[in-house]
Order: sequence, then structure tokens, then C-alpha cells
Amino acid sequence: LVRALGRRSIVLVGLMGSGKTSTGRRLAHRIGLGFVDADSEIETAAGMSISDIFEQHGEAYFRDGERRIMARLLEEGPRVIATGGGAFLNEETRARIAGGGISVWLKADFDVLWRRVRKRSHRPLLRNADPEQTMRLLIEQRYPVYAKADLTIVSRDGPHELAVEDIIAEV
Ligand code: S3P
Repeated sequence: LVRALGRRSIVLVGLMGSGKTSTGRRLAHRIGLGFVDADSEIETAAGMSISDIFEQHGEAYFRDGERRIMARLLEEGPRVIATGGGAFLNEETRARIAGGGISVWLKADFDVLWRRVRKRSHRPLLRNADPEQTMRLLIEQRYPVYAKADLTIVSRDGPHELAVEDIIAEV
């Protein structure tokens, strides 16, 4: 698998709670590639948490940083990259992924996502009066875009190992 990838990275996309980070870390370990989490890279580069970036600089600023970090990560060579849920919405980022990676959408339905994110207060997009409605809206808005990924893996409820094996079987 790693030989077949060549210089391309495996790029995990999907909504918050779809398991991009957990699945990505396990997948990387399993196939012997490095792992990187784009959200963590942005936090390191900015020297502050994603919540603080949103709060102090706004979402547009975050999105611009995200776009630049994605460009760098894709240049750095074959790895498993977990993206933040909004990264794949950016057209330039999608084009870069198409050029230097294989995109994998971890698709999960509302119940699975909601169970995983409902208690997480650190996600700025869900810090509002009706996070459940926000989640439903994001599903509606983003699924057509995530569907452009090279591969779709249905994230079943259960250990992330399941998704890892599905990805290995399909890539
Ligand atoms: C976002 C998802 C988050 C993070 C930011 C915005 C989004 O990443 O990048 O809060 O727009 O869906 P996760 O998908 O890793 O939670």
C-alpha cells in the first residue's frame, strides 16, 4: 500500500466527530507512515488553540491559516493527514489534495457524529444556542462536497479499527 501511494498522502476528510484524528493515527501506525493532524499544526503555528483563534481573529483568519497549513503538509510528502472538518470545503485545498494525495471521506450519520461531539465544548462552530441544529445543517451543506473525495468509508459505530481496515482494503 505504501509503495502504491508513492509521494501521495492519505487525507482524511469529514465532519467533526467522524473520527479523522483517531482513525488517522491508527491507520498511519498500521501501514508504517507518519501521521499529522492539521488542526494541531495550525495551533502550533499560531501558538494558540483553535477556539482562541476563532475568538480573537475570527473564522476567516482561521480558514486562511488552514489553507496555508494544508499546502505545506501536502508538500511534505507521504503521510496520513487528518484535516479539520472545514478544510476540504476550500477549493484550492481540494485541488492540492487531488494533486498530492488520496482523499478519504469518513462518512457518518447524524446519530454517530452527535454522540461523539455533544460533550465537546472546544469546537467553536458548535458553541451556540442550538448545536444539534448546527450539526444537521453542516451535514446538509457539506455532504455534497465531501462526496467529491476519492473514497468514501462509512464510519460505523464501534472501534476506529473498523474504519482503518476498511480504508486499507479500499485504497
Ligand atoms: C471545523 C472542524 C474542527 C476545526 C474547527 C472547524 C469545521 O476540526 O478545524 O473547529 O469547520 O468543521 P475537527 O473536524 O477535527 O473537529
